[in-house]
Amino acid sequence: MVRRAGCPVLGGSFFGQSGLSMPFPPSAIVATASEASPSATMSTAAALAPLFTLRRIRLRHNPPFMADKPRVFSGIRATGDKTLGNYSGGYRQYAATQESGDAFFCIVDLHSITTPIEPADLREYTLSGAAMLFATGLDPERSTVFAQSHVVAHAEAAWLLSAATSFGELRRMTQFKEKSEGQDFVSAGLFGYPVLMAGDILLYQTEIVPIGDDQRQHLELTRDVAERFNQRYGDTFTIPRGVYPEEGARIKNLQEPERLMSTTRGAPQGVVRMVDEPDVVRKKFKTAVTDSETEVRHVPETKPGISNLLEIMSVATGETVADLEKRYAGSGYGQFKVDVGEAVVALLAPIQERYRELRADERELQRLLAVGAEKARNASEPTLEAMYDRMGFVKPEAGRFFGAARPRGL
Ligand code: TRP
Repeated sequence: MVRRAGCPVLGGSFFGQSGLSMPFPPSAIVATASEASPSATMSTAAALAPLFTLRRIRLRHNPPFMADKPRVFSGIRATGDKTLGNYSGGYRQYAATQESGDAFFCIVDLHSITTPIEPADLREYTLSGAAMLFATGLDPERSTVFAQSHVVAHAEAAWLLSAATSFGELRRMTQFKEKSEGQDFVSAGLFGYPVLMAGDILLYQTEIVPIGDDQRQHLELTRDVAERFNQRYGDTFTIPRGVYPEEGARIKNLQEPERLMSTTRGAPQGVVRMVDEPDVVRKKFKTAVTDSETEVRHVPETKPGISNLLEIMSVATGETVADLEKRYAGSGYGQFKVDVGEAVVALLAPIQERYRELRADERELQRLLAVGAEKARNASEPTLEAMYDRMGFVKPEAGRFFGAARPRGL
């Protein structure tokens, strides 16, 4: 019997529940991984292309939980237009994460209703967010990609954990203070946001949480709540660790290189959207702001525009900034800007093709999400059951109903 280290509750029943009482032959895992994982030196565009073809995905019902790899959980907000900044700081990292961990990627739609959102927008952002995750390289067979609302355990866990979270702790959260300030309607959900997030993470016995720096306080709270629960009710949760991206590798607006690339703020002409047509992309790079010198060098303090373009080119081609500086030594800005634009067009082309195909095929998208939800349900159930049990809830003898089963044919 394989046991996941640092996973106090699950012990034997975990793999039993997921239909895996025998360890999966390691050779099979290695073969799949080496077939599909691109060599680290390949360009990102080239690396993504052969990952998988949507039509040909074959899914195992109960894929092996990778006992030798750390459990990774990431929650992704469902938002509108996705930019090259989201790609650099998010999607690209998720695809890399799936190589190194037993990864769960959850589109956190339940979190979306903590601030006002139109129902039609929530629906669109959830589906387009899922399509973009698959289009940028998440492989539904190796990773677990799902919508939070499809796995009822998340809402339940949040309620149970709210008993181990204090009003004072939540009141101190800076994100709550920022988002509630000056609003005439502040939802109770916004206040409880971090508890729902703690549930997301703890349900999966997560070891590693790749997360933005702005979420540090929420992760610390998650650890505190987990420790408190463990103390009160007995060891139940793995204490997760946050992994924060390095500062600096964040793409800026092409027109205002001192601010991050985002669709909500900054000149739209400087924002490259993941779905921009090639000619639109080319034009945005041609008109990107630079400086009055001529040297292509990475000096963010004095040459923010050119430094940003160098970073973007590095993201698009996989080459290092230092190598790019050498290649463009003495060549002037004009050609460099054209080349960065072309590199980004080449990066986006296969992503856009897969995205369009998948976004247009809602049934296939639903099928992929159903597969993810089923895997997530299997993985979270033992933890949720242990939570109920240890807190003293009567176990229903007829069995608990854990969400919907996957309908036939999906
Ligand atoms: N709060 C996170 C953000 O704003 C999203 C999120 C929700 C999350 N649940 C999570 C991130 C669990 C990591 C793990 O980005």
